[in-house]
Amino acid sequence: MDAIRTEALTKHYTVGFWRPRPYVALDGLTLQVQTGEVFGFLGPNGAGKTTTLKLLMQLIFPTSGRADILGKPAGDIDVKRRIGYLPENPYFYDYLTAQELLEYFASLFGYSPAERRTRASRLLDEVGIGAERRLQLRKFSKGMLQRVGIAQALINEPEVVFLDEPMSGLDPIGRREIREMILRLRDRGCTVFFSSHVLADAETLCSRVAIMAKGRLVTAGALSDMLAFQVRGWELVVSGLTDAVLAAAKARGDVMRVTMVGPARHALDLPLDPPPEKTLAALIAQGACLVSLTPIRDTLEDFFVQQVSGAGGSRFRESA
Ligand SMILES: Nc1ncnc2c1ncn2[C@@H]1O[C@H](COP(=O)(O)OP(=O)(O)OP(=O)(O)O)[C@@H](O)[C@H]1O
Ligand SMILES: [Mg+2]
Repeated sequence: MDAIRTEALTKHYTVGFWRPRPYVALDGLTLQVQTGEVFGFLGPNGAGKTTTLKLLMQLIFPTSGRADILGKPAGDIDVKRRIGYLPENPYFYDYLTAQELLEYFASLFGYSPAERRTRASRLLDEVGIGAERRLQLRKFSKGMLQRVGIAQALINEPEVVFLDEPMSGLDPIGRREIREMILRLRDRGCTVFFSSHVLADAETLCSRVAIMAKGRLVTAGALSDMLAFQVRGWELVVSGLTDAVLAAAKARGDVMRVTMVGPARHALDLPLDPPPEKTLAALIAQGACLVSLTPIRDTLEDFFVQQVSGAGGSRFRESA
């Protein structure tokens, strides 16, 4: 059974005061997410990610199409008990402390007072909120609120968790902590569906991704299978090479381009063939010291730019 399945899910908003017209926020999304998968839902601003999550949460209703979670229609009450949701901009009653807020959410699921306390404390530990849990939420920074939001989404040990931009507002350490947390959820068998516009968030976490642009699904599958994101070459940064050695490497075709990046330090663009380790070994034999070696591939941004420039058409529909 799929954890999440949508069929031709479509949402039109009516926009315009003098001449109201339907605007296509989501256009026929058909998607399956398997149980136990960490699934990245990617796309630039306005692609339709939040709209999809709100449709799955039944905060808004589709113009057409359907959505199932855990084999039942998205609004099913039994399903609601078994899922968690982090909204895009979580807002909480901010005169409660973090601990009180989480205990309140635990009470909604019917846990005993003792169980509420242990759940709240454990989750706050997990998301890295320390002694600050005794502070009212109005004194929290954006990143701290985001962490409380994630803890809130997990209070009922959900089987499927929906996270709308879980990394937003987090510093690099926070991003890493949330990444590790998502992996722990996966190890427990939880299905994680999260949206992001950052490819790097998805690269290290997801078994599969869907890429959205302008309300439409552009492609779905494993990132490693997606042609656009295959490695196109390597950037090698070395120090200690003479101009003569660099010129010879260029003449052999081992190096495509040389950029001076500091005193006696060069960035070299290497082709896929010969393999970078071979070129590196040859350069080291000639006195180079390795600084870094990085694969060159299209970023999600490059991919979006190509897609968005290719995909024409207005998202407005003429009203009937
Ligand atoms: N209530 C609304 N009325 C009219 N248009 C809306 C409404 N909500 C969203 N939209 C439009 O639908 C499109 C999709 O919005 P959505 O919020 O789903 O994008 P997103 O992919 O989540 O973007 P972001 O990365 O900025 O969060 C946008 O063009 C947005 O302007
Ligand atoms: Mg959004």
